[in-house]
Amino acid sequence: MKEDNIDFSHKNLIDFSDLSAGEWNGIFTLAEKISENPTAYGDVCKGKILATLFYEPSTRTVFSFQSAMIRLGGNYISFTGTENSSVSKGENLRDTIKIVNNYADIIALRHPLEGAAYAASLYSKAPVINAGDGGHLHPTQTMLDIFTIQKLKNSCEHLSVGICGDLKYGRTVHSLLKAFESYKNNKFYLISVPELALPEQFMVKLKENNEFIFCDTIEECIDKLDVIYMTRIQKERLSAGEDYNTIKNKYILDQHKLGAAKNDLIILHPLPKVDEISYEVDDDPRAKYFLQAEFGLYIRMALIMTLIGRANNPSKIDYTEQSRCPNKKCVSNIEKYLPRKEKIVENKIMCAYCEHYIT
Ligand code: NCD
Repeated sequence: MKEDNIDFSHKNLIDFSDLSAGEWNGIFTLAEKISENPTAYGDVCKGKILATLFYEPSTRTVFSFQSAMIRLGGNYISFTGTENSSVSKGENLRDTIKIVNNYADIIALRHPLEGAAYAASLYSKAPVINAGDGGHLHPTQTMLDIFTIQKLKNSCEHLSVGICGDLKYGRTVHSLLKAFESYKNNKFYLISVPELALPEQFMVKLKENNEFIFCDTIEECIDKLDVIYMTRIQKERLSAGEDYNTIKNKYILDQHKLGAAKNDLIILHPLPKVDEISYEVDDDPRAKYFLQAEFGLYIRMALIMTLIGRANNPSKIDYTEQSRCPNKKCVSNIEKYLPRKEKIVENKIMCAYCEHYIT
């Protein structure tokens, strides 16, 4: 093993914002070192296996996890989409996790239900990494987003950050804003249609040290921005009554709009992009989304290195109390065996799985 052990108290990565500033910096410094000399890390996970359990489609996230493990000298087992796994026969998440524990040393889980990664971590001996849980969070994407902003803007403070598109269901937006709670003096320009506005719970804490400005159009704020974070409309998560076709082309970033932007604006997108960024913008030096995706590889290498070998000790679970989460997309309402788990944030009770308020 290389001598890169960082001070890290977590056994899983469910929510990036749970990490202390020191822990973030540890991962970022390690990712930076790896990017300078990736081959030096070619055998740190020799003999180890990563399981990528992707219940939803993915290109970058799944490949970057797998590539990261291979580059660390390890191997991976995987499913992407549930049709070829026992999930299609009705196997529940808990059983799948317990079985995979026999074969893998670390698990990256992507799931359509909110809170699924946290639920999996209750039953897993191997560390669980949240690779996206429904419309809730996507912490490894956020790690690379923050890494990119830090690297290209030298700071994550005193910035004007536009966030555009699907702020209601975009898990990358939710995770990113939670991570920004650790920074201050930023102005967030939220650009969305009212139907896809940011849920209140992602603003409460951030408001303490930052400002929010609500915009109907990109044009009204583009000249002020240091960062614009574009997102796709999450078609697969829209509820009945939210019509994709009427929303989809509302926000398109093109060269004309960028004419008013600063020269040192950085344009980010978690990808995949659909129509929200015109093709010609790819050639604009301010477009950084492909570089952003590249950073994901080093971040995931650093994260796997840090978590591998950490044993979870699933605690004894009390099954007597059922969930009372009002969110229909919460894992606790679908995987019925899950115990009730709540937490108090800013004097309000939240579901510990999906972080919806419980009134
Ligand atoms: C994002 C996701 O899956 O949430 N993609 C990714 O992992 N880079 C964004 C999206 O699908 O829109």
